[in-house]
Amino acid sequence: MDTKRIFIFDTTLRDGEQAPGYSMNLDEKIRMALQLEALGVDILEAGFAIASPGDLASVQAISRAVNDVTVASLARALQKDIDAAWLSVKDARHPRIHTFLATSDLHLQYKLKMSREQAFEKARTMVSYARNLCPDVEFSCEDATRSDLDYLCKVVEAAIDAGANVVNLPDTVGYATPDDMHKMVGSVMNRVPNVDKAIIAVHCHNDLGLAVANSLAGIQAGARQAECTVCGIGERAGNASLEEIAMAIRTRGDEFPYTSNLKTEEIYRSARLLSSITGVKINPSKAIVGSNAFAHESGIHQHGMMANSLTYEIMTPESVGVMTTSLVLGKHSGQHAFEKRLIDLGYALSKEEVDRLFGEFKNLADRKKTVMDKDLIALVENTNKPSAITWELDSFVVNSGNMMTSTACVTLKKGDKKYQEVACGTGPVYASLRAVEKIIRHPFGLEDYSLQAVTEHRDALGEVLVKISDGNGFYRGRGVSTDVIEASILSCLAAVNRMLDESVPPAGGGVKATEMVNFDNDMLSDHSDKRKEQFDE
Ligand code: KIV
Ligand code: ZN
Repeated sequence: MDTKRIFIFDTTLRDGEQAPGYSMNLDEKIRMALQLEALGVDILEAGFAIASPGDLASVQAISRAVNDVTVASLARALQKDIDAAWLSVKDARHPRIHTFLATSDLHLQYKLKMSREQAFEKARTMVSYARNLCPDVEFSCEDATRSDLDYLCKVVEAAIDAGANVVNLPDTVGYATPDDMHKMVGSVMNRVPNVDKAIIAVHCHNDLGLAVANSLAGIQAGARQAECTVCGIGERAGNASLEEIAMAIRTRGDEFPYTSNLKTEEIYRSARLLSSITGVKINPSKAIVGSNAFAHESGIHQHGMMANSLTYEIMTPESVGVMTTSLVLGKHSGQHAFEKRLIDLGYALSKEEVDRLFGEFKNLADRKKTVMDKDLIALVENTNKPSAITWELDSFVVNSGNMMTSTACVTLKKGDKKYQEVACGTGPVYASLRAVEKIIRHPFGLEDYSLQAVTEHRDALGEVLVKISDGNGFYRGRGVSTDVIEASILSCLAAVNRMLDESVPPAGGGVKATEMVNFDNDMLSDHSDKRKEQFDE
């Protein structure tokens, strides 16, 4: 084995997705999984199968959709969890069961009410049970960084002995420092006699903002699998950010002489896709993928950059897939040029999708003189997910001014029927959203609203991100248009469709999981269940 190779274990769809505001539907999870495969992650943790029939179904669908990546499903160290995990991944080309049990006295005493001996035995027997089902088993010692080191080493040894191919040492609560992490991983590497028979992994949370530094310290001490998420999304303050780990390794080969399978040029696209699916904006100053990450405002910096980009740039935007040159299309551009540009931007779309997007492009080009790459990306990413009950915008008229109450008349389509309502409000956005609410007859509150320009010019597309709530949950949506009221209505409808989707019981959808798995109601109070977000947020 290449001793310098780092395996990237992405848990965006499990640890990431369980964070408030990041839940995705089946179709969105598959789109994200395919992008993670294109990014070149080695292992993709697709979900926590026992949590619900929906979770099991999505892990199963992802297992069938991808080829070149190992698909993992999480399971507590319980037979029923492991059975559900196996059922969800067994159709994958490379399946993995990821089972976990806490090893810290705090968790053993207060959460699991188990002695160290009982937990040791449970870890051993459950790894062995999983290994009899699946050739690839990962065992995680939850809260490893707050566990007694001698005991931790014994559990790691027993897990490897029972057949674990990977043993993960998580900093579950983000408490460790890089020095702690280095010492813990180093001790396991030196003291566990059979450690050479498995890969040691690190999985760090970001409560003190140290998740990436801790992961890198663990790698320097001998860990060879890094667990992380796109944009660092995850429980509480999140997980270690995939793009930061990847680019630290690529940029600082002197400190981190390791290799990975990642195509870093796919990083930006992965982050954008996550943001467009979840409707959560990327922080402008987010390292690697934020809109300011490669922007140079100050005159001194700009001067230096012009003389030699190395003066202020430690990595190129292109190395993470951020485009600096932009081809301009306009209303006279034909479908061929349009399609070619989409391919150059890295999109592999079906003929139907290209045809539909070309229509949208033509509408946009009528309103906007030049259509830039960023506009095209916004159009592609705005693809609305299929939904059982889809409300679409037909037309709207608003009447607004600084000396009057705003009025909006909105017409929506559902199937081939049209519905129209008029509503007033203190502003045009408020009036339009009230009209939508009257049509759909499902009250909701606007929890968050943001508007930003996609490109720099006056005729820029406006991108609106909204978060709405109906008392049962929070739902996000995104809309883009040169008209900010239209973008607002579109974003609201994306959120509304998601809200209505979730308030309808899921259709059978091919998985007969409920017949075979006894889903666990306790999971509602466990950290894995995204339904909990509705009450936590
Ligand atoms: O943070 C953690 O400990 C986890 C484990 C379940 C791997 O997510
Ligand atoms: Zn975690």
